[in-house]
Amino acid sequence: MAAPLTSIRPATLADWDAVQPLLKEAGYLHTHFDWHKPRAWLLRHPFMLAWSGSQLAGMLAAPPDPPDVAWLRFAGVAAGFSGPKVLGELWASCQKELLAAGVRRSAILTTNSYLDELLPHWGFAASEEVLVLTHNTRLAATKTESAALIRRARPEDCDAVAAVDWAAFDTPWRHSPGMVAAAMAHATYVTVAQVDGTIVGHQFTTEGRNGAHMARLAVHPTWQGKHIGRALVQHMLRHFADCGISPVGVNTQSNNAASLALYRALGFTLTGEGYQVWQRWLL
Ligand SMILES: CC(C)(COP(=O)(O)OP(=O)(O)OC[C@H]1O[C@@H](n2cnc3c(N)ncnc32)[C@H](O)[C@@H]1OP(=O)(O)O)[C@@H](O)C(=O)NCCC(=O)NCCS
Repeated sequence: MAAPLTSIRPATLADWDAVQPLLKEAGYLHTHFDWHKPRAWLLRHPFMLAWSGSQLAGMLAAPPDPPDVAWLRFAGVAAGFSGPKVLGELWASCQKELLAAGVRRSAILTTNSYLDELLPHWGFAASEEVLVLTHNTRLAATKTESAALIRRARPEDCDAVAAVDWAAFDTPWRHSPGMVAAAMAHATYVTVAQVDGTIVGHQFTTEGRNGAHMARLAVHPTWQGKHIGRALVQHMLRHFADCGISPVGVNTQSNNAASLALYRALGFTLTGEGYQVWQRWLL
């Protein structure tokens, strides 16, 4: 029988030595696709830990970012403990803290069925899926005419990129300026689209062992429908084709007709993989 929980409390930086092993050896672990390192989240709340005496039994972190949405960033349970019990109690504490802070929306992107079974019991409802597409850059597209100049981003572009990103996305998909800055710092190929000196769109791509992944694409609403998104993606595909890097992957929401049409038109194909998004209002 699993040892009983003795306390649930917010994490502090001093807990890193206990949290780090759980990130590697948990009986069950959920991590969100993220630009910040796990240790950085320890400074943000709610990041709750469940203890059985001096043993860390589980963790659950859902610090709001942007300020109105709490995405589940981490959920982990140590081997030998009951996932539904430990995570259920941790979620109840997180929810209390989120409500006290005035956060009204929570979202989770699940990568396996473990959480999918628990989330309806926590009041979450399945919403859209995130679909995975892939492109063989050896078949890179030809150039399209657009009004925009595409160039590599510079650190001083960060505020303008964050403003375009915020305007282009709706909640819960918006990134805070801090998240955009982290993404720009970590992505290996970041380009902006500029019209008359003003940044109107951007894309962020990261390289990995098995190709590259375009993690973000946005065009300011005023400039959408003018082939700027297409130009950004084609420019990025040509860059990776020239570097001999293939394939390039991308994720998008199943209800995002514009991006799905754009990716398909440029030769991306669905891989059949997908992730479920769950959301709930906190009342
Ligand atoms: C998706 C997005 C980047 C597209 O950029 P855009 O500059 O508006 O798109 P383009 O003008 O380059 O369109 C290229 C093609 O995409 C498709 N497309 C674009 N917008 C569309 C829409 N609203 N509905 C259907 N198809 C659309 C069309 O096939 C279009 O080609 P066509 O004009 O020759 O028919 C932009 O709509 C956006 O920023 N959306 C919000 C953020 C987002 O969803 N990002 C992608 C997340 S993965």
